[in-house]
Amino acid sequence: MKKIGILTSGGDSPGMNACIRSVVRTACYFNIQCIGFIRGYDGLIDNQYIELNRRAVSGIIHRGGTILKTARSERFRTIEGLKQAANTIALHQLDGFVIIGGDGSFKGAIELAQHTSVKIVGCPGTIDNDLIGTDFTIGYDTAINTVVEAVDKLRDTAESHDRIFVVEVMGRDAGLIALRSAIASGAEAILVPEIKNDLDTLIKKISSWRKDKSSKIIIVAEGDESGGAYKVAEIVKQHHPLHDVRVTVLGHIQRGGNPTCMERVNASIMGYHAVKALMEGKHQVMVGIIDKKVHYTPFEKATKHIQEINPELLQMLEILSS
Ligand code: F6P
Repeated sequence: MKKIGILTSGGDSPGMNACIRSVVRTACYFNIQCIGFIRGYDGLIDNQYIELNRRAVSGIIHRGGTILKTARSERFRTIEGLKQAANTIALHQLDGFVIIGGDGSFKGAIELAQHTSVKIVGCPGTIDNDLIGTDFTIGYDTAINTVVEAVDKLRDTAESHDRIFVVEVMGRDAGLIALRSAIASGAEAILVPEIKNDLDTLIKKISSWRKDKSSKIIIVAEGDESGGAYKVAEIVKQHHPLHDVRVTVLGHIQRGGNPTCMERVNASIMGYHAVKALMEGKHQVMVGIIDKKVHYTPFEKATKHIQEINPELLQMLEILSS
């Protein structure tokens, strides 16, 4: 392994910079040259890159976003784009590649591998935590802490006015941000894509709420079948007109901010092991951490969405919030 490339792709997530730093510094330690492509796969197609050395990644471990920028490349979905990206890899005579991104990025990597012999290893970078093969993706811990901080604040005003707050969090296909932040913030209910007809259940549940319950927080994952927080608030109001209902959509605030300690450590571990994996000849695998141990999961498997949400955690939330 003499020269590797690195890029970040898909939605940015806090901790990507810590991962980039780890990849670059590990590569430097083993005398591997490293270049970073700008704006994800678009940069690879257009051969837009920067040389990365130890100094280039100083002062970034604590910063959200990605110094390499990111994109969801439409051109990379075409054969021409894939071929152009493979040409860039050949031009730089790369032996290995590290891709930091989510499921779309790894699906792209599977396609890319059809056009190049470069070894590709992935690090899971997405706030959604919806990849198989790791307990936590890079960005998830920071995102849920951001949600909890926001819900704590909403709780104050909800309590003062005896209101219901419907809070929408990210998670296009997964309710993991919703579930964990709901447990940590003591939310009264969640609506997640993994559970069908949960809005009907919620409407019934509201009738059973104690009359003296002052604040009520409902966390809705954006991908839930109900159609989002505004829709949920409308239906709740129709069935429970006496309740005062407000909506907060947290949106992209969840993608920003300084990564938590856990995030920085996990991202560093994953970046370090991505380079070591390339040196060992691993290919088309994602580095993950399960039960504090490093695991390698083939991209094919990592990108199969988790359709199930831990039923015991759901039940616990139910018990603790009643
Ligand atoms: O992939 C992470 C994610 O945060 C999803 O939960 C969300 O639907 C999506 O990104 C939105 O991303 P963007 O606005 O960048 O397209």
